[in-house]
Amino acid sequence: MPKLDIEQFACLSDNYAVLIHDEEAGVTASIDAPDADTILKRAAEKGWRITHLLVTHHHGDHTGGNLKLKEATGCTIIGPKSEAERIPGIDQAVAEGDVVTFGSFEIRVLDTPGHTVGHIAYWIPEARVAFVGDTLFSLGAGRIFEGSAEMMWNSLKKLKELPPDTEIYCGHEYTVANAQFAMTVDPDNMALQNRAKEADMLRAKGKSTLPTRLDRELETNPFLRPHVTAIRERLGMPFAPDWKVFAEIRERKNKA
Ligand SMILES: [Fe+2]
Repeated sequence: MPKLDIEQFACLSDNYAVLIHDEEAGVTASIDAPDADTILKRAAEKGWRITHLLVTHHHGDHTGGNLKLKEATGCTIIGPKSEAERIPGIDQAVAEGDVVTFGSFEIRVLDTPGHTVGHIAYWIPEARVAFVGDTLFSLGAGRIFEGSAEMMWNSLKKLKELPPDTEIYCGHEYTVANAQFAMTVDPDNMALQNRAKEADMLRAKGKSTLPTRLDRELETNPFLRPHVTAIRERLGMPFAPDWKVFAEIRERKNKA
């Protein structure tokens, strides 16, 4: 079975950059480009040549390094079709159902609108990994800047249905703050309390809390759990549809 090397590192104030590498094929992709210099430096340290840039959405802290990265490496920039005009240097526009060939891996594109209307995620089934940008976070979910709550919920529902052992890489380190909020809507969840403690400990040591894994999120992330009776009762919404409960959780987090 081919091996996918994954290198995650901090960029800007709380973004993550990720490089994925197929040694045998000699290809390397950057997931988003928060900061070209940091990404180029890490690639050089690893001895990897960046051949692809996979963009999740148009926000500046994900695309600010696009042109510099392309100029330095000649990489192919792949990004979301429905906001292609906002992705600097884009070469290939992709959407749900498209498959990007990367060495011996197939990268599947999922439309995950809500944070931005064109937001996409990249899923590599064979490597059991997904890069979800600012749609799903560890113990949280992205803010809804351009889409509607129902749209965002449908995107999260799609991610919920990936294989539970999928490693989830996200755009930001928000876990500690997310955990504090999550405990206000799901206070009796022991698994959540344990994850909150673990996140505090990791951050105190300067370590990353990411990647996370889908099965852990399904147990602890309130944004993926609007169906849970204890959460519904806490919010006083016993009979509302899931997306409305999700919308209420998102609204409360915005105000937290
Ligand atoms: Fe964003």
